[in-house]
Amino acid sequence: MVVIAICGTPGTGKSELAKLFGKNGFCVIHLSRFVIENMLYQGYDKRRGAYIIDEERLVGKLKDILSKYKDVVIEGVGAEAIPSKLVDICIVLTCEPFMLERRLTERGFPYEKIQENLEAERFGIILGEAISNYGRSKVMVFDTTYTSIEELYRVVVDELRRRGIKIRNTP
Ligand SMILES: Nc1ncnc2c1ncn2[C@@H]1O[C@H](COP(=O)(O)OP(=O)(O)OP(=O)(O)O)[C@@H](O)[C@H]1O
Ligand SMILES: [Mg+2]
Repeated sequence: MVVIAICGTPGTGKSELAKLFGKNGFCVIHLSRFVIENMLYQGYDKRRGAYIIDEERLVGKLKDILSKYKDVVIEGVGAEAIPSKLVDICIVLTCEPFMLERRLTERGFPYEKIQENLEAERFGIILGEAISNYGRSKVMVFDTTYTSIEELYRVVVDELRRRGIKIRNTP
């Protein structure tokens, strides 16, 4: 049984990577949708652009899910701030700003939003928050600039295995 958080600046590939975990037997939770649908929030943090999670209710809901599914991936904005005791390992995805700009432009993000995200990526904001929340030993960092999602998945699974976390049904 393993709970993995996937975080990173928008466009780093969290959802794409999570999909591959989903294809391999993981229950995938898209954090913001999950929190909204189950009303697991206490308020909204405008600065982070994410809901402030109600820890107790999230624990309850996650326990429900873990009783049905063995392995869970929680991905999305805010995954860097989940109560650490709920998460076994945190994956932080990064991307060189020039490539991130390309990806976000292709997705039709407005100019301001792109600049904001590029700046966050340059300063390693999400990575810093993940390390301060989970502690360095629980955090694994992967650069996605030149790596396809499939290759990234293989590298991540290899690294998880090295840490003694088994992933079933891996291609
Ligand atoms: N490693 C990669 N190689 C090539 N394209 C990628 C890679 N990772 C992501 N992309 C592309 O970048 C875009 C954003 O990916 P994705 O939706 O997974 O990002 P995200 O981190 O979930 O962003 P958000 O926080 O906005 O949900 C998609 O169009 C995806 O195909
Ligand atoms: Mg996403």
